[in-house]
Amino acid sequence: MTDARRARILVLISGGGSNLQALIDAATAGAPFVISAVVSNRSDAFGLERARRAGIPSAVLDHRDYGERADYDAALATLIESFTPDLVTLAGFMRILTPHFVAGYSGRMLNIHPSLLPKFRGLQTHRRVLEARESEHGASVHFVTAELDGGPVVVQARVAVRPEDDAETLAARVLAREHVIYPLAVRWFAEGRLRLNADGVPWLDGAPLHAPVLIDSPYPSTSP
Ligand code: GRF
Repeated sequence: MTDARRARILVLISGGGSNLQALIDAATAGAPFVISAVVSNRSDAFGLERARRAGIPSAVLDHRDYGERADYDAALATLIESFTPDLVTLAGFMRILTPHFVAGYSGRMLNIHPSLLPKFRGLQTHRRVLEARESEHGASVHFVTAELDGGPVVVQARVAVRPEDDAETLAARVLAREHVIYPLAVRWFAEGRLRLNADGVPWLDGAPLHAPVLIDSPYPSTSP
């Protein structure tokens, strides 16, 4: 497939960008999308280096240069639109977005969150899962709505919590699964198989998704 026909994906990051790398790797391996740009709110995000190495245009828009959240989001939207993306993906973008901004990307913005939503919205999910003595944990890809981590979930990966886990070991296993389900969801979108219906229900392959697609690890109890 030529680049002209591939869906254009813009990735928003704030940090390490391992999910960005998974998307880059999928695109390089022939997935039907191209990462058209990477935008970070932090100039020290390692994901910017990943973009540079892959020859992907990038930009930094520092939130500290804006007094009001709405002003930052307006500038962000202008910057994003300059890259004419078909889909915006949040990949560790540590900013709460205004409802106005989110509304402008209804049905064309995805996020990845490290929990089995609707459980454990927000930050520090791995620590909170351990504290709650959950037996399973995981990651979710969802369409972004104004409600933080509350948009309709498309696909999830489950990870068994092990007795010896600490937040770091658990995070590492969840992250490995994130790197599988995010490129998968983006691929579905790029192929025109995934969309958000006007009533807020995601559709996959021509049918409503009333529950997320569940991608289990092949060896849930022993390996990532
Ligand atoms: C991931 O755990 C993602 O789910 C969360 O932030 C983290 C980003 O990691 N939203 P990375 O920058 O993609 O490595």
